[in-house]
Amino acid sequence: MPQTFPSATYTMTQEKIRLGKMLFNEKRVSIDGTTSCAKCHPFSYYGADNLEKSRGNFGKINPRNAPTVLNAAGQMSQHWRGDRKDVEEQAKKALLGKASFGAPSYEWVEKRLGSIPKYEELFKKAFVNDKNPISVDNYAEAIGAWERTLSTPSRFDEFLEGRSNALTQEEKAGLKTFMDKGCTSCHSGALLGGTMLQKFGVVSPYWEYTKSKKIDAGRYNVTKKEEDKYLFKVPQLRNVAMTAPYFHDGSVKSLRDAIKIMAKVQLGADLSQKETQNIYLFLQALSGKLSEDIVTLPILPQTN
Ligand code: HEC
Ligand code: HEC
Repeated sequence: MPQTFPSATYTMTQEKIRLGKMLFNEKRVSIDGTTSCAKCHPFSYYGADNLEKSRGNFGKINPRNAPTVLNAAGQMSQHWRGDRKDVEEQAKKALLGKASFGAPSYEWVEKRLGSIPKYEELFKKAFVNDKNPISVDNYAEAIGAWERTLSTPSRFDEFLEGRSNALTQEEKAGLKTFMDKGCTSCHSGALLGGTMLQKFGVVSPYWEYTKSKKIDAGRYNVTKKEEDKYLFKVPQLRNVAMTAPYFHDGSVKSLRDAIKIMAKVQLGADLSQKETQNIYLFLQALSGKLSEDIVTLPILPQTN
């Protein structure tokens, strides 16, 4: 598990990371003045919001469930449909999101930030060679730099490093079932996911099991290609025990149910109660400890 998730395009400096942490909590760039990244990704809920569907400006309901921002930067792409290439693009576009910040334009956001004197100084320090340091691109880059530090190693990593007793017998049995059943064919890599898109409902339609009220065609709605029907990014499973409810529409509350549904609709397998329980315990071992830096709030500049 990497300690940070560096980018090939952007550099991470302390100045950008500090500014990014502030901007993550900044609500003055939203149309209703109450919406910040932290509104839908609070660390008290492990970087997710514990809602089926997130609520943005003026309570507008998002079409999908909010995944956690913890370790998110380590995935191949962002969003359930993989339609944001990296965390920087994600942050920039969230500003104009109708059910997110709802800002009327990027210029509007830049004006807002520019009207807070202390930000001018902080952006200048973080982007020294920039003629116009206060820009939405720099807003996104700073938040991205902060998100790239949100790594949460857990007992599973100690186990991988060779400390066999870092996991209990049940958790080890759960890991074995997870591998033997074929969960790892999709939930692969250090984050146990975030490396590919796959159909949700390989063996049978997902909504028959999730009881989803609305059927989401997934990536098909982005590309309009028939073969992309019901394709979603395989989500990472780091901290999954802390980020209910589950699936792109938050349709399933219980992690045990989510595990059983996965086995059924992706692999055509019925898990025994014991197998489900062991996988459930193994997934708990993927909950990392949140660092002091993650759980402390930054003080934001005053408007005066
Ligand atoms: C109104 C609630 C809301 C706000 C505000 C919001 N998000 Fe999100 N976020 C979501 C939802 C919902 C999704 C899933 C969108 C999708 O896949 O269609 C998401 C997805 C993401 C993802 C992708 C995670 C993954 O695993 O694919 C990241 C990263 C993220 N948000 C970071 C941010 C940052 C940074 C901000 C502030 C600039 C922000 N979000 C503001 C609700 C919100
Ligand atoms: C064929 C690929 C594939 C296989 C095999 C697979 N998954 Fe998944 N998994 C996915 C996809 C895709 C999603 C996202 C579904 C959605 O909500 O749109 C997902 C979602 C999940 C979620 C919900 C995560 C969240 O944050 O909402 C859990 C938990 C999960 N899988 C566990 C498992 C387990 C346990 C197994 C083995 C029994 C398994 N998966 C096998 C592709 C797969």
